[in-house]
Amino acid sequence: MGAYVITGGKSLSGKIRVQGSKNSSLPILASTLLNAGKNVIKDVPNLKDIKVMTDILEKLGAKVSKSGNILEMDSSNVNIWEVPEDLMREMRSSIVLMGPLLGRFKKVRVSYPGGCEIGPRPIDLHLKGLSLMGATLREKHGFIYAEAPALRGADIHLDFPSVGATENLMMAGVLANGKTIIRNAAKEPEIVDLQNFLNRMGAHIKGAGTDTIKIDGCGSDELKPVEDYTVIPDRIVAGTYLVAAAITRGQVTLKNVVLEHMEPILAKLRETGCKLECCDDCINLTADTTLRSLDSLRTLPYPGFPTDMQAPMMALLATVEGTSILTETVFENRFKHAEELRRMGAHITINGNTAIIKGVRKLTGAIVEAKDLRAGAALVIAALAAEGETTVYGSSHVERGYERLEDNLSSLGAEIVKKK
Ligand code: UD1
Repeated sequence: MGAYVITGGKSLSGKIRVQGSKNSSLPILASTLLNAGKNVIKDVPNLKDIKVMTDILEKLGAKVSKSGNILEMDSSNVNIWEVPEDLMREMRSSIVLMGPLLGRFKKVRVSYPGGCEIGPRPIDLHLKGLSLMGATLREKHGFIYAEAPALRGADIHLDFPSVGATENLMMAGVLANGKTIIRNAAKEPEIVDLQNFLNRMGAHIKGAGTDTIKIDGCGSDELKPVEDYTVIPDRIVAGTYLVAAAITRGQVTLKNVVLEHMEPILAKLRETGCKLECCDDCINLTADTTLRSLDSLRTLPYPGFPTDMQAPMMALLATVEGTSILTETVFENRFKHAEELRRMGAHITINGNTAIIKGVRKLTGAIVEAKDLRAGAALVIAALAAEGETTVYGSSHVERGYERLEDNLSSLGAEIVKKK
């Protein structure tokens, strides 16, 4: 199992550019199935999850060419509507292929998705929405078959503003007959990015970024390839580097950020006492004073504090004097990193979906294991501040979301190497 070996105690300083957003790139790549043509998408991060998505699209018949962070996706010859089971299991978000495949081929077969081990993560909202749009669903031997000779627009109210379900239904709505309305939709910036990409393709979507999204369905002949599109910067990666700077009481400047997307994270970092200076597309964080604990940090759908930043933030709070209370409301069972952080000397008590963190003066190096992507990022962050050497096993989880993490951290002065 791959690992990062980190010698802690170096204060980070310097400047890095933030990669393009993984969570934007994935649905945007899936949506290229809708238009039979060549799309050029820029700033797509070079990550395992992206590779899984492009491998799936290739297996379905798409032509994919890659040059650095630019992907050329030609879906003209896609002729398969069954998503390969082995690849589907590798990444939960492959479920967003259902909407575009149903739109284009009127049928789709997927298996139950895999992905991070952070709670049951059902897909009922995706399926309910597609069924309201006229799809017939059958589940057999772990596969889900959906068929819809003619998808029709529908008025869908999501029980929870699920990011993936919102994206899936938006894509299904593009080629449906009539108007689709998604209420209680997710408002994440990645949803707006998907809307922008789909509209560049010729779709008629309004309202992304609010809780009601309206899609006027169109004919496939109205859709054209998108010749040049750049995905938004990754706000979670940006947040992770800011927290890494804060835990080492360092000073780091990030380029390529959208400040508005970062605000839920910046607000909490400010509350801890970190100093933040912002320009158009950059943020500078300085953490040169004693940081303060947080009475209450709750994860919530956007524009609340992102669940994906919960684990990194827990690592930081573990080093901040006083007691912090952190509540996870988006996913069940997303505290697996607490046990590993305890091995490094953190004082964390878990009570249901609440973590009580009593800051310690120093974390200490240990051998720990990342069980999911953001937990892995949290352990790396903790290791940067810990006394002595930490080995974080499970680097492959971290590589699902962070491009060249060890190079970026090294360039900021961290002592980190990756071993196979
Ligand atoms: C996306 C992000 C992930 C982030 C999450 C929440 C991608 C590729 N991944 O995941 O990084 O942590 O949003 O911001 O964009 N749920 C149901 N039924 C469903 C769908 C979801 O009950 O049909 C529940 C989930 O179990 C979870 C909550 O809704 O408790 C949020 O899930 P969702 O917003 O769908 O997350 P993802 O789209 O999987």
